[in-house]
Amino acid sequence: MEFTAEIKKATDPIYNKISKAIPDIEWTFHAPYIYEINKLKKEKNAVILAHNYQTPEIYHGISDFSADSLALAIEASKTKADIIIMCGVHFMAETAKLMNPKKKVLLPDMKAGCSLSSSITGDDVRMLKRKNPGVPVVSYVNTSADVKAETDVCCTSANAVKIVNSLGTKKVIFLPDDYLAKYVASQTNVEIISWKGTCEVHEQFTDTEINEIRKNNPDIKVIAHPECPPDVINASDFAGSTSGMIKYVKENQPKKVMMVTECSMSDNIQIDNPNVEFIRPCNLCPHMKRITLPKILDCLKNETNEIVMSEDIIRKARKSVEKMAEIGR
Ligand code: 13P
Ligand code: SF4
Repeated sequence: MEFTAEIKKATDPIYNKISKAIPDIEWTFHAPYIYEINKLKKEKNAVILAHNYQTPEIYHGISDFSADSLALAIEASKTKADIIIMCGVHFMAETAKLMNPKKKVLLPDMKAGCSLSSSITGDDVRMLKRKNPGVPVVSYVNTSADVKAETDVCCTSANAVKIVNSLGTKKVIFLPDDYLAKYVASQTNVEIISWKGTCEVHEQFTDTEINEIRKNNPDIKVIAHPECPPDVINASDFAGSTSGMIKYVKENQPKKVMMVTECSMSDNIQIDNPNVEFIRPCNLCPHMKRITLPKILDCLKNETNEIVMSEDIIRKARKSVEKMAEIGR
């Protein structure tokens, strides 16, 4: 696509904001797509929701709402748009569909999965329930609709402790992230039965890496996502969901910070926090990175890659997401 004078004029305000994150030469490639997508989404009454791990040209260039998984699910339930484009991974698009079954929900690349979501099936949850009769099941939103359909209440990293405590039981089955389960167990007296799922991005961080960075940057603040291994959380100054981490930086304005999470988040947040120096550990989520501007344009134009689920699964899975929203209120 051609970078015309008209496109340059229309997209310059966006580029002025994000020029520190994207070199000029790359912008000439992105700008025509940003221009077309922003035009088309208005014509089609579509809304673009983007997870915090999307790249800056998506996060700042075309997204109507960028957030963590919890806020994306809530926003999906409120939108008046006819079409929802989810710039994130498959479970996020499914959750948007559950919250809004009458809307068309599109995912620009159907292969955008998640190692946590693929670590467990509905059959696995049925087996766990048989082994632990009467014990409620709390599932992370990073799960398929089949797993959510077997779940009593969902949670995200932003509300996991609150959800577990709200059930008032001695034991809870907490799926599928073993590290998040350990984090929750450290914050509550409830006995946690966990599953061996891990996030392939966050499991790579180590406390040795953090201690090494602290040695060279004594004044640094280290903030980690609770999907990281327990040693990493213990070596950090703060743990929270992606939006919790963003809020920490915004409110504390540390001189230097290391966000122990997916790499694009530092690029996105640096733009709104120019006085903070970001030390970037570079672990990318290959699933999140499947979402690109050309795929978004194609999916919006042709309305392809629609999320389709049976009414039965929608009805069952939706309950667990609604219950999460109820407890959160
Ligand atoms: P949150 O945005 O809810 O913190 O989750 C992070 C994540 O794993 C998304 O892939
Ligand atoms: Fe899944 Fe981890 Fe990627 Fe998030 S960052 S989508 S949890 S693999």
